[in-house]
Amino acid sequence: MSEISLHVEGLKKYFAVRRGFFQRVAGWVKAVDNIDLAVPKGKTLGLVGESGCGKSTVARLVLRLLEPDAGRIVYEGRDITHLPPRDLNALRKEMQIVFQDPYGSLNPRMTIGQTIKEGLRKMRLSKGARRERLEELLQMVGLSAGSADRYPHEFSGGQRQRAGIARALSVEPSLVICDEPVSALDVSIQAQIINLLKDLQDRLGLSYLFISHDLNVVGYLSDRVAVMYLGQIMEYADADDLFESPCHPYSQALLSAVPRPEAGAKRGLSSLGGEVPSPLDPPPGCKFQARCPYAEVRCREEPVAFYRVGGNHLVRCWKPAES
Ligand SMILES: Nc1ncnc2c1ncn2[C@@H]1O[C@H](COP(=O)(O)OP(=O)(O)OP(=O)(O)O)[C@@H](O)[C@H]1O
Ligand SMILES: [Mg+2]
Repeated sequence: MSEISLHVEGLKKYFAVRRGFFQRVAGWVKAVDNIDLAVPKGKTLGLVGESGCGKSTVARLVLRLLEPDAGRIVYEGRDITHLPPRDLNALRKEMQIVFQDPYGSLNPRMTIGQTIKEGLRKMRLSKGARRERLEELLQMVGLSAGSADRYPHEFSGGQRQRAGIARALSVEPSLVICDEPVSALDVSIQAQIINLLKDLQDRLGLSYLFISHDLNVVGYLSDRVAVMYLGQIMEYADADDLFESPCHPYSQALLSAVPRPEAGAKRGLSSLGGEVPSPLDPPPGCKFQARCPYAEVRCREEPVAFYRVGGNHLVRCWKPAES
């Protein structure tokens, strides 16, 4: 039995940007540029980075909603990179996604009960068993039995996200990809949903790929964290190691943007200076160098490989690798 639920190797997805009357290719957005990741079974891999760095593209590639340009996607020891469309339905029962905006992903014309039952239909249960399972799912995510007859617009944001989670769980997946599941919610509600996800993981042994732009949120749930910038992983470490001793200047900046009451004033990514380079025209060398306070000539000229700074801690930067 594999200890890894999902791993990807050398994953790449470039989007062509076309311009003009003849729609000529004017450049490529390297949305996912040679990424290796692993989600351990029953654990959470956090994927964190600013908007546009390629997080959702990773999710869509893993779910086979997009075809990768290169690389391998291995789920439960099985290479699913080129799984034919007829096998994708079975795969999508095992891998589910929870989106940022459940309002957009729940059908507004269906009651929550109907939406969840749609998932249950795939499970080939008798009518009675379906009704029982629906009640069980609602209870599991903290919704009342009466919620089944209500429409998405009758729910609060947090309740809608609970319904979205119940729908994802209806097909009994083993891997759930959470793409910014709490970003649209108030902070107090965020904590409730994160606790719910944690409880469900403990109860059902779920593996999570948890995507967020907020390192604080990622920290609550993740066992391992990958920090992503312009299509590449910059740092990859156990969550404790990353929070205690972040090595990449980008991770350090993200961490300094996490408000800590004892630290007083909040510093942000703005303290880095520089601008996020256009994803269309990433700089040669290290992708972060335009904003990096420590950038040297070689950072501008030479691509940086991953270095192991200890145990399971990898960083794509010369500086910590040499110290
Ligand atoms: N279908 C597409 N065609 C062209 N470019 C795309 C496509 N999908 C994504 N991109 C580009 O790829 C890059 C990565 O996008 P992606 O949605 O994966 O980022 P993200 O990290 O999920 O951002 P956010 O935090 O805003 O959700 C962006 O520059 C985006 O504009
Ligand atoms: Mg996204």
